[in-house]
Amino acid sequence: PQVCWLTPEQTAGKQKPYMYTQGQAVLNRSFFPGFDTPGVKSTYSATIKVPEGFTAVMSATTWEKQEKDNTFTFKMSQPIPSYPLLSRCGVGAIKSTMLWMKSRVWAEPCLIEAAKKEYDGVIEEFLVVGEKLFGPYVWGRYDVLFMPPSFPFGGMENPCITFVTPCLLAGDRSLVDVIIHEISHSWFGNLVTNANWGEFWLNEGFTMFAQRRISTVVYGAAYTCLEAATGRALLRQHMDNTGEDHPLNKLRVKIEPGVNPDDTYNETPYEKGYCFVSYLAHLVGDQSTFDAFLQAYVNRFKFQSITADDALEFFLEHFPELKKKGVATIPGFEFDRWLNTPGWPPYLPDLSPGETLAELWAASPLNLEAIKAVDIAAWKTYQLIFFLDKILQKSPLPGGNVEKLSETYPKISCAQNAELRLRWCQIVLKNNLEAEFGKVKDFLHSQGKQKYTLPLYRAMWSGSKSARALAVETFSATAAQLHVNVRNYVKKILDAAPVGS
Ligand code: BES
Ligand code: ZN
Repeated sequence: PQVCWLTPEQTAGKQKPYMYTQGQAVLNRSFFPGFDTPGVKSTYSATIKVPEGFTAVMSATTWEKQEKDNTFTFKMSQPIPSYPLLSRCGVGAIKSTMLWMKSRVWAEPCLIEAAKKEYDGVIEEFLVVGEKLFGPYVWGRYDVLFMPPSFPFGGMENPCITFVTPCLLAGDRSLVDVIIHEISHSWFGNLVTNANWGEFWLNEGFTMFAQRRISTVVYGAAYTCLEAATGRALLRQHMDNTGEDHPLNKLRVKIEPGVNPDDTYNETPYEKGYCFVSYLAHLVGDQSTFDAFLQAYVNRFKFQSITADDALEFFLEHFPELKKKGVATIPGFEFDRWLNTPGWPPYLPDLSPGETLAELWAASPLNLEAIKAVDIAAWKTYQLIFFLDKILQKSPLPGGNVEKLSETYPKISCAQNAELRLRWCQIVLKNNLEAEFGKVKDFLHSQGKQKYTLPLYRAMWSGSKSARALAVETFSATAAQLHVNVRNYVKKILDAAPVGS
């Protein structure tokens, strides 16, 4: 399952076949022998021979090409865990273009111009801010590779070369938080690593915090709070779907032998993890003192794999006055409760800098006059997303309202931006707006990202009879182009007894 072989039709350019690998969480053991646990790190080198006209790239600090026999040699000089290792040999017709001294962007030829335009000039800024906040960037180069449309993730933080979905090519940089997220893994995840997959929140929760710190410095608090509010809405949806008490809704997860860590994947390590790190920052009080702590944390544990206990012990050592005050056991906010009790985070960071924008839309009933007075033409993508999440929470809307909404805001109902398309499709399904089912179908045909695909199949399957028919029809047409994991998860959804009408 680790190696994905794509036919030309499964690529963006539809000209040449393509091969890539994806290791996280435990797929690399099917590709090469080794200790496939995040608790073990090593350097590596590799040689890849490709057919004429193809290029190989890997997560490595040095790259060399021997022209005469189409062979590429790679060396990773820093110790890394296995899961982001080798997992990025995108062999296929790809081109690169220089973004700045140590950063290139790679994509199929038909995407390269758009890819360059989307991120020219900003990557360097994120790296510089990241270094200022969290310490030296140790990986030398930083490249971004745009993957074919069936890549099942938004991004994957392979050291030296992040893999991203082509859905990020929105034309206006509006989905740049994914790049900032993967860059943040350069410190949290790739440098300080969770020792086992039950502690996954150490990778993702710290990374969400780091991502939003960089975003706050570059784009300001108002923007970052809107993005964070979107994350909180995803956590709300997830806990509503599973029930707050679900055992996966705690930060430290017990993964029994034989259970695939991928099957425990959900929003909790990301967004509840973010809340916990925000809570630690809140205990410290001062932002720059907490930034300094994060830098000390990275420095203390770099190139190591750790558990939450190591991290929290270091936190208390670093702030002896907090330890003396007993912050680890404040009733209701015990560190132990954070780690081991499922449910909604006991502490939520204040996102109010972004909230005023959404208040008008959260009101019920909607005041149409007031709505008309608001010009969404200038709204940024995360403002629209925030709004759509509120609409989705309130759906199904009273009869006729969604049609009206669709007509009033073609900017939303005909959006090309993947995050907007996902939400519009969810609203279409929740309101059973059959006239726009075609949009759900088109979106699922155009890409295969797991976080877009599964929620839509779940929504179809718990919807009307025609929504279920749409699910069956779409799956039979697209199954072949989906990543094998995603295909299996969709199958599972369609195998369950429908809960809807
Ligand atoms: N490392 C993850 C992707 C991943 C997790 C792959 C678990 C396989 C198993 C990556 O850093 C990630 O979190 N990507 C997010 C980006 C988002 C949170 C900005 C994604 O793909 O949605
Ligand atoms: Zn991540």
